[in-house]
Amino acid sequence: MQEAGQTVNDLPLDDLIAQARQLVTHASSLCVLTGAGISAESGVPTYRGSGGLWRGIDAGDVASPEGFRCDPQRVWQWHNERRMALKDVRPNAGHQALARLQRALEARGGRFVLATQNVDGLHQAAGSRSVLELHGSILASRCSVCDERREIGFEPVADLPRCPKCGRLMRPAIVWFGEMLPEDAWLAAAEAAATGEVFLTVGTSAVVYPAAGLIEIAAGAGARTIEVNLEPTAASTRVGLALRGKAGDILPQIVE
Ligand code: OAD
Ligand code: ZN
Repeated sequence: MQEAGQTVNDLPLDDLIAQARQLVTHASSLCVLTGAGISAESGVPTYRGSGGLWRGIDAGDVASPEGFRCDPQRVWQWHNERRMALKDVRPNAGHQALARLQRALEARGGRFVLATQNVDGLHQAAGSRSVLELHGSILASRCSVCDERREIGFEPVADLPRCPKCGRLMRPAIVWFGEMLPEDAWLAAAEAAATGEVFLTVGTSAVVYPAAGLIEIAAGAGARTIEVNLEPTAASTRVGLALRGKAGDILPQIVE
């Protein structure tokens, strides 16, 4: 029972975790959306918080098609630094909990879909399968003109890499501001959000669309919605359960 004016999210964190665990462990289908916050405990900077990547820099200069046209060298250099910084980074307890949850749910015939806005490859490194990379991958490059794509890992790339097929400039295989999301990944994520019994959003400020729209799609379709985040976000008032804390602390408890 709650007093007037109180909501379920005013309950102690342990109670909210227990409710989330109940939902997650009994769901037959689950859709998860992750953002930079889930990788923060691995040492990867987020975008908007203090010390975030978009602090003190105009994101359009390094993460837009216009920025790339203007100064491709600067854009490559910025992405190379981020890529190389990922070399010694390991998945954390939050990534691992989601990989375990996928195995458990699939083992009992359920459906698990993980859509991430992250480009760092840490979900895959933790063992998650069929990850939908809504914003692409920093560990790959693609041609700015044709459909050529290369896995480039963490090592430095040539100054301004050129497409082996057509000779035009290669670019990081990331979705930049003003660009469309990869259609297959987006459609699969939207379908999972619209049909999943439970929707879990982790470590995203939920301000970048269309990815953040998955939360609205799920809520609108009647899914039980859960948010795990250090702070209130743009989505907090729209979710059923809002759990405040670190993904690496809370996810293992939900998945237990
Ligand atoms: P943001 O930097 O906008 O938000 C990170 C969120 O993670 C914030 O809400 C933090 O409160 C939360 N957070 C930080 N540490 C956490 C922790 N240990 N556990 C749980 N939550 C934590 O990052 P995104 O929402 O991912 O796009 O940003 C979305 C997109 O904007 C990115 O994919 C990127 C950026 O521009 C592209 O580069 C295309
Ligand atoms: Zn090409």
